[in-house]
Amino acid sequence: MEIRNLSIGNKGAMRVLIKEVIAHQGLLAEFFWPEEMLGPELATAEAVGVFEGSELAGFVLYRINPQAWEISLVASHPRYRRAGYMKALMLHLIGAKGQDKELWLEVHEKNVKAQNLYEKLGFVRRGHRPKYYQDGATAYLYTCP
Ligand SMILES: CC(C)(COP(=O)(O)OP(=O)(O)OC[C@H]1O[C@@H](n2cnc3c(N)ncnc32)[C@H](O)[C@@H]1OP(=O)(O)O)[C@@H](O)C(=O)NCCC(=O)NCCS
Repeated sequence: MEIRNLSIGNKGAMRVLIKEVIAHQGLLAEFFWPEEMLGPELATAEAVGVFEGSELAGFVLYRINPQAWEISLVASHPRYRRAGYMKALMLHLIGAKGQDKELWLEVHEKNVKAQNLYEKLGFVRRGHRPKYYQDGATAYLYTCP
Protein backbone atom coordinates (compact mmCIF):
# COMPACT_ATOMS: atom_id res chain seq x y z
CA MET A 1 0.00 0.00 0.00
CA GLU A 2 1.36 3.43 -0.92
CA ILE A 3 -0.24 6.87 -0.51
CA ARG A 4 0.52 9.58 -3.06
CA ASN A 5 -0.85 12.96 -4.09
CA LEU A 6 -2.69 12.73 -7.41
CA SER A 7 -2.62 15.11 -10.35
CA ILE A 8 -4.44 15.51 -13.64
CA GLY A 9 -2.13 12.75 -14.94
CA ASN A 10 -4.01 10.30 -12.70
CA LYS A 11 -7.42 11.31 -14.08
CA GLY A 12 -7.74 8.11 -16.14
CA ALA A 13 -7.20 5.91 -13.06
CA MET A 14 -9.71 7.97 -11.06
CA ARG A 15 -12.29 7.59 -13.86
CA VAL A 16 -11.76 3.82 -13.92
CA LEU A 17 -12.31 3.62 -10.17
CA ILE A 18 -15.52 5.69 -10.34
CA LYS A 19 -16.81 3.46 -13.16
CA GLU A 20 -16.07 0.36 -11.09
CA VAL A 21 -17.95 1.78 -8.09
CA ILE A 22 -20.98 2.60 -10.27
CA ALA A 23 -20.85 -0.83 -11.97
CA HIS A 24 -20.76 -2.40 -8.51
CA GLN A 25 -23.60 -0.49 -6.80
CA GLY A 26 -25.38 1.55 -9.50
CA LEU A 27 -25.59 5.35 -9.65
CA LEU A 28 -27.04 5.80 -6.15
CA ALA A 29 -27.96 9.11 -4.53
CA GLU A 30 -25.44 8.29 -1.78
CA PHE A 31 -22.60 8.33 -4.31
CA PHE A 32 -23.89 10.36 -7.24
CA TRP A 33 -20.68 10.77 -9.20
CA PRO A 34 -21.24 10.42 -12.95
CA GLU A 35 -17.68 10.23 -14.28
CA GLU A 36 -18.20 13.48 -16.30
CA MET A 37 -18.14 15.36 -12.98
CA LEU A 38 -14.53 14.42 -12.38
CA GLY A 39 -12.89 16.86 -14.84
CA PRO A 40 -14.56 20.04 -13.50
CA GLU A 41 -13.98 18.91 -9.90
CA LEU A 42 -10.27 18.28 -10.52
CA ALA A 43 -9.89 21.81 -11.88
CA THR A 44 -10.31 23.18 -8.34
CA ALA A 45 -9.85 20.25 -5.94
CA GLU A 46 -6.85 18.50 -4.44
CA ALA A 47 -6.58 14.73 -4.77
CA VAL A 48 -4.80 12.00 -2.86
CA GLY A 49 -4.82 8.28 -3.55
CA VAL A 50 -3.83 4.93 -2.11
CA PHE A 51 -2.20 2.44 -4.48
CA GLU A 52 -1.70 -1.30 -4.41
CA GLY A 53 1.18 -1.82 -6.79
CA SER A 54 0.33 0.30 -9.81
CA GLU A 55 -3.43 0.13 -9.24
CA LEU A 56 -5.41 2.95 -7.62
CA ALA A 57 -7.27 1.28 -4.71
CA GLY A 58 -8.96 4.41 -3.39
CA PHE A 59 -8.92 8.19 -3.55
CA VAL A 60 -10.24 11.34 -1.90
CA LEU A 61 -10.93 14.78 -3.41
CA TYR A 62 -10.97 17.85 -1.19
CA ARG A 63 -10.85 21.65 -1.29
CA ILE A 64 -8.74 23.76 0.98
CA ASN A 65 -10.50 26.69 2.65
CA PRO A 66 -9.34 28.89 5.55
CA GLN A 67 -11.03 26.80 8.27
CA ALA A 68 -11.06 23.32 6.85
CA TRP A 69 -10.27 20.82 4.14
CA GLU A 70 -13.70 20.07 2.66
CA ILE A 71 -13.95 16.55 1.30
CA SER A 72 -16.07 16.14 -1.83
CA LEU A 73 -15.38 12.52 -2.84
CA VAL A 74 -14.34 9.37 -0.97
CA ALA A 75 -14.19 6.10 -2.91
CA SER A 76 -12.49 2.71 -2.71
CA HIS A 77 -12.26 0.27 -5.61
CA PRO A 78 -14.77 -2.57 -5.01
CA ARG A 79 -11.91 -5.11 -5.27
CA TYR A 80 -10.09 -3.51 -2.34
CA ARG A 81 -12.98 -2.98 0.06
CA ARG A 82 -12.91 -3.65 3.81
CA ALA A 83 -9.16 -4.09 3.79
CA GLY A 84 -8.22 -0.84 5.49
CA TYR A 85 -7.23 1.14 2.38
CA MET A 86 -9.62 4.03 2.98
CA LYS A 87 -8.93 4.10 6.69
CA ALA A 88 -5.21 4.45 5.92
CA LEU A 89 -5.84 7.19 3.35
CA MET A 90 -8.12 9.18 5.67
CA LEU A 91 -5.62 8.86 8.53
CA HIS A 92 -3.00 10.29 6.17
CA LEU A 93 -5.27 13.28 5.43
CA ILE A 94 -5.98 13.83 9.13
CA GLY A 95 -2.23 13.97 9.72
CA ALA A 96 -1.55 16.17 6.70
CA LYS A 97 -4.17 18.90 7.30
CA GLY A 98 -2.39 20.43 10.31
CA GLN A 99 -3.85 21.16 13.74
CA ASP A 100 -5.31 24.54 12.76
CA LYS A 101 -7.70 22.99 10.21
CA GLU A 102 -10.63 20.61 10.41
CA LEU A 103 -11.85 18.07 7.88
CA TRP A 104 -15.49 18.50 6.80
CA LEU A 105 -17.69 16.19 4.78
CA GLU A 106 -21.31 15.22 4.11
CA VAL A 107 -22.74 11.74 4.01
CA HIS A 108 -26.10 10.30 2.98
CA GLU A 109 -28.21 9.22 5.95
CA LYS A 110 -28.33 5.64 4.62
CA ASN A 111 -24.61 5.30 3.90
CA VAL A 112 -23.83 3.41 7.09
CA LYS A 113 -20.52 2.00 5.78
CA ALA A 114 -19.15 5.48 5.29
CA GLN A 115 -20.59 6.74 8.60
CA ASN A 116 -18.86 3.82 10.39
CA LEU A 117 -15.60 4.69 8.69
CA TYR A 118 -15.76 8.38 9.65
CA GLU A 119 -16.83 7.71 13.24
CA LYS A 120 -14.05 5.17 13.67
CA LEU A 121 -11.59 7.87 12.58
CA GLY A 122 -12.85 10.41 15.13
CA PHE A 123 -15.24 12.40 12.95
CA VAL A 124 -18.18 13.86 14.89
CA ARG A 125 -21.69 14.51 13.53
CA ARG A 126 -22.26 18.26 13.82
CA GLY A 127 -25.53 18.77 11.98
CA HIS A 128 -27.66 17.75 9.06
CA ARG A 129 -29.21 19.11 5.87
CA PRO A 130 -32.72 17.80 5.17
CA LYS A 131 -33.59 16.96 1.54
CA TYR A 132 -29.99 17.43 0.46
CA TYR A 133 -29.83 14.49 -1.92
CA GLN A 134 -31.87 13.93 -5.06
CA ASP A 135 -33.78 11.05 -3.44
CA GLY A 136 -34.96 13.46 -0.71
CA ALA A 137 -32.58 12.04 1.89
CA THR A 138 -30.82 13.99 4.59
CA ALA A 139 -27.09 14.72 4.59
CA TYR A 140 -25.24 14.28 7.87
CA LEU A 141 -22.44 16.79 8.34
CA TYR A 142 -19.29 15.43 9.91
CA THR A 143 -16.19 17.24 11.12
CA CYS A 144 -12.84 15.94 12.29
CA PRO A 145 -10.85 18.25 14.58
C1 LIG B 1 -17.25 3.70 2.30
C2 LIG B 1 -15.97 3.20 1.60
C3 LIG B 1 -15.15 4.40 1.13
C4 LIG B 1 -15.15 2.38 2.61
O1 LIG B 1 -13.92 2.03 1.98
P1 LIG B 1 -13.04 0.78 2.44
O2 LIG B 1 -11.73 0.86 1.74
O3 LIG B 1 -13.84 -0.49 2.29
O4 LIG B 1 -12.87 1.08 3.99
P2 LIG B 1 -11.86 0.38 5.02
O5 LIG B 1 -11.57 -1.04 4.63
O6 LIG B 1 -10.70 1.27 5.23
O7 LIG B 1 -12.82 0.32 6.31
C5 LIG B 1 -12.65 1.14 7.42
C6 LIG B 1 -13.93 1.10 8.26
O8 LIG B 1 -15.08 1.55 7.51
C7 LIG B 1 -16.26 0.84 7.97
N1 LIG B 1 -16.78 -0.02 6.89
C8 LIG B 1 -16.22 -0.22 5.67
N2 LIG B 1 -16.98 -1.10 4.96
C9 LIG B 1 -18.02 -1.43 5.75
C10 LIG B 1 -19.14 -2.29 5.57
N3 LIG B 1 -19.31 -3.00 4.43
N4 LIG B 1 -20.05 -2.39 6.57
C11 LIG B 1 -19.89 -1.70 7.72
N5 LIG B 1 -18.83 -0.87 7.98
C12 LIG B 1 -17.91 -0.74 6.98
C13 LIG B 1 -15.79 -0.02 9.14
O9 LIG B 1 -15.87 0.75 10.33
C14 LIG B 1 -14.34 -0.27 8.73
O10 LIG B 1 -13.52 -0.68 9.80
P3 LIG B 1 -13.43 -2.29 10.18
O11 LIG B 1 -13.20 -3.02 8.88
O12 LIG B 1 -12.25 -2.32 11.11
O13 LIG B 1 -14.75 -2.62 10.83
C15 LIG B 1 -16.33 2.27 0.39
O14 LIG B 1 -17.28 1.31 0.79
C16 LIG B 1 -16.81 2.99 -0.84
O15 LIG B 1 -16.02 3.45 -1.66
N6 LIG B 1 -18.14 3.07 -0.99
C17 LIG B 1 -18.75 3.69 -2.18
C18 LIG B 1 -18.54 5.17 -2.24
C19 LIG B 1 -19.04 5.87 -0.99
O16 LIG B 1 -20.10 5.54 -0.45
N7 LIG B 1 -18.28 6.87 -0.54
C20 LIG B 1 -18.60 7.67 0.63
C21 LIG B 1 -19.47 8.81 0.25
S1 LIG B 1 -19.67 9.90 1.67
